[in-house]
Amino acid sequence: MSQGVKVGLLGWGTVGTGVTRIFQNSQDLLAKRSGTTITLGKIADLDITRDRGVKVDRSLLTTNAEAVIQDPEIQIVVELIGGIEPAKGFILKALKAGKHVVTANKALLAEHWDEIMSTARDSSADIYFEAAVGGGIPVVQALNDGLAPNHIQGIFGIINGTANYILSQMKKGQSFDEALAEAQAKGFAEADPALDVKGGDTMHKLVILAAMAFGRRVAPSDVHVEGIDQLTAQDILYAREELDKEIKLLGIAKQTKDKQVQVRVHPALIPGDHLMSAVHGVYNSLYVIGDAVGPTMFYGKGAGEMPTASAVVSDVIFIARNIHMGVAGNVPSVYYLPQAAADSLPVEPIAELVSQYYLRFTVKEEIGVIAKIAGILSEKGISIEAVIQKDAHKENVVPIMIVIHQAKEKDVTAALETIDKMPFTVQPTLKIRIEDID
Ligand SMILES: NC(=O)c1ccc[n+]([C@@H]2O[C@H](COP(=O)([O-])OP(=O)(O)OC[C@H]3O[C@@H](n4cnc5c(N)ncnc54)[C@H](OP(=O)(O)O)[C@@H]3O)[C@@H](O)[C@H]2O)c1
Repeated sequence: MSQGVKVGLLGWGTVGTGVTRIFQNSQDLLAKRSGTTITLGKIADLDITRDRGVKVDRSLLTTNAEAVIQDPEIQIVVELIGGIEPAKGFILKALKAGKHVVTANKALLAEHWDEIMSTARDSSADIYFEAAVGGGIPVVQALNDGLAPNHIQGIFGIINGTANYILSQMKKGQSFDEALAEAQAKGFAEADPALDVKGGDTMHKLVILAAMAFGRRVAPSDVHVEGIDQLTAQDILYAREELDKEIKLLGIAKQTKDKQVQVRVHPALIPGDHLMSAVHGVYNSLYVIGDAVGPTMFYGKGAGEMPTASAVVSDVIFIARNIHMGVAGNVPSVYYLPQAAADSLPVEPIAELVSQYYLRFTVKEEIGVIAKIAGILSEKGISIEAVIQKDAHKENVVPIMIVIHQAKEKDVTAALETIDKMPFTVQPTLKIRIEDID
């Protein structure tokens, strides 16, 4: 055996503590799986006095992240601070110093993909990020290795556990606000839950998945993003009872016929009997379709101390094995080949999307409203598949749900703009895309 590999940890919060636990509990396993001994050399956090529930030799602890990066014995730097700065500066410094890096930082990777990947490449250092997408689910490695011979045709991800928890609770009848408050009370949601419920966190993960799947970067600004904050428990109920569908917040990356990609995050109606419909609570799932393998599905805990630490340490083992074999930094990875950084993928504008839609109108209870709505839709060439009308919620206000046949998004948007200006419309119409996940 070699002298072993030393790992430095930046950030000793939720995930950092979990990583420490795995190092302590599974030392032998790590050695067997990597062929070398892997030890924690230093741990940096701003607060090294707080009790984290794990005992470590106090001489390992420092408040100075630079001391970890500059330590000549440390070969792998694990960044678990989160956010853009100072995490980005630390990662770039570590790579330039020839250290291999493991990070769980999806926001940073999504926003600064090129700079980080090209720095890694130029420094002949490895960067791995299994924990950045789907927490403990090993989907990054699956895309990189297990599915490597496949042209990826589509990825459909339920990759924000908080949003999925809220939708699952709304299915039980809770309002959005009640479900969000419960998620916060249980510690699932961020103190500022906007990234979870408005789709930003799913977008960050989708950008990484798309780069992995298609070998070229996607600019975050090219991703169409909608959250779940406009949905009501009734939408979820009607979807299930009237249409046999579930509403899920999906991250979708899909090849189109004309060599573009769709990258979009939004709530979607999916068939009630699809496996993805059975993904409830904080669980995550990814449905990945390859041209050779066909559909595959990954399921598991998308967050939390130990699942996320599992993914982080899997990367550490992988790099340690490569260091032991003398090939770390030399193993080509699809996601930072030079051409991967060269151009963004051509992304199909959302206005060009062709889809079926569920539309929920909130209108005054008047004779002839449905006919007027149907007329405006028809002017844009949009035909109706089904109409569901319920009793008035409040006095004189009714929800009308209409499912339309396949139509172009820009035509649907234009029709809804007209309808939303009509005197009978009480509140803007909600539109949810109906997704065929195959
Ligand atoms: N938690 C999850 O389930 C999960 C799942 C997937 C991915 N991730 C990703 O994993 C990363 C870490 O998440 P987390 O939940 O473990 O966060 P966390 O609990 O907030 O831990 C971050 C730690 O970094 C410390 N820190 C901040 N600035 C620092 C600096 N300059 N030098 C050294 N330490 C510093 C913080 O210290 P103070 O608190 O004292 O400021 C905190 O202890 C993030 O990128 C996150 O997106 C987390």
